[in-house]
Amino acid sequence: MDYAITLIPGDGIGPEVSEAAVRVVDAVCPGIRWRRVDAGASAVETHGTPLPEGVIEAVRETRVALKGPCTTPVGKGFSSVNVALRQALELYVSLRPVDTLPGVKTHHEDVQLVVFRENTEGLYAGMEHEPVEGVVESLRMVSEHASRRFAKFAYEWCRFEGHRKVHLVHKASIMKLSDGLFLDVAREVASDYPFIETDDILIDHLCMSLVLDPTPFDVLVMENLFGDLLSDLCAGLVGGLGLVPGANIGDRYAVFEAVHGSAPDIAGKGIANPIALIRSAAMMLKHIGERDGSARVERAVRTVLEKGEALTGDLGGSATTRQITDAIIREL
Ligand code: NAI
Repeated sequence: MDYAITLIPGDGIGPEVSEAAVRVVDAVCPGIRWRRVDAGASAVETHGTPLPEGVIEAVRETRVALKGPCTTPVGKGFSSVNVALRQALELYVSLRPVDTLPGVKTHHEDVQLVVFRENTEGLYAGMEHEPVEGVVESLRMVSEHASRRFAKFAYEWCRFEGHRKVHLVHKASIMKLSDGLFLDVAREVASDYPFIETDDILIDHLCMSLVLDPTPFDVLVMENLFGDLLSDLCAGLVGGLGLVPGANIGDRYAVFEAVHGSAPDIAGKGIANPIALIRSAAMMLKHIGERDGSARVERAVRTVLEKGEALTGDLGGSATTRQITDAIIREL
């Protein structure tokens, strides 16, 4: 099949892991034409802005993108490209499957979690101001419309993929209005899916429970900031950020990216683990209908991890990004 897909290599380790993912995808699906565009700190250097208009246009045209991580300066400088992209393209769902992988040492076995994170609202609406000097207000935006479409997507996905247990994650004991609205709307949506067991849980309680024993949980549905934090916690349960893939999905477009960031501490050394982005690319292949190619990539990744001969430093090995990618391609 002949596809055009936007490629946003990103910053830091982004270009290294993107190159790896492209090599793997090309090996199973040679018909893809990559439309490469720059965003993030690299685009500031080349285009004078972190999110050139051409980036949004490219994703609108191809509808699907594979994206490396983009750096966001802390406390000052430009706002997050990642957040802007999700808002501009209405990618209102972030979907992150977190599962135990063969050969990866972890504290718990048989972890099978799916994190659903609302991607457009909450504290990430970016509404902050300083009404008087020394006092800053940050608005936590929750709307019925965004909560409903997000919850609906999560439940439809569960129905389609055969997941039967959802936890709605919140802190409505304190944020009674905002999380209260999210919870009410999500419960209303849940009532249309009586064959899926729904429970709710406070975010703090969930954090402790996951660290002690994640196995009773299946699908976790929550607002933006909680989802951001919990994604990293869950990645830690299965071996770290180098392994966990993700997708940002809306009604018209989808952007696939790993949970991890641009990892400036290891950027440029050729030692980043490309598996998280390669598995994000496998999710992308499934999304565009290349189910066989997607399954082959996922199988090859698992075989390489199980053999343990070409592991990157984060997994206790000494392989480079290129070496582990070569090993995955050999297994395809
Ligand atoms: P990070 O995820 O980049 O790194 C955290 C730790 O995990 C570091 O020690 C890093 O070396 C390690 N790590 C991450 N990915 C790895 C990989 N593939 N292989 C091996 N080790 C890996 O988080 P951090 O340091 O908080 O953020 C760095 C930058 O990334 C920031 O500018 C942040 O805003 C941005 N970021 C971007 C995201 C995106 O584009 N979606 C998501 C998260 C952060």
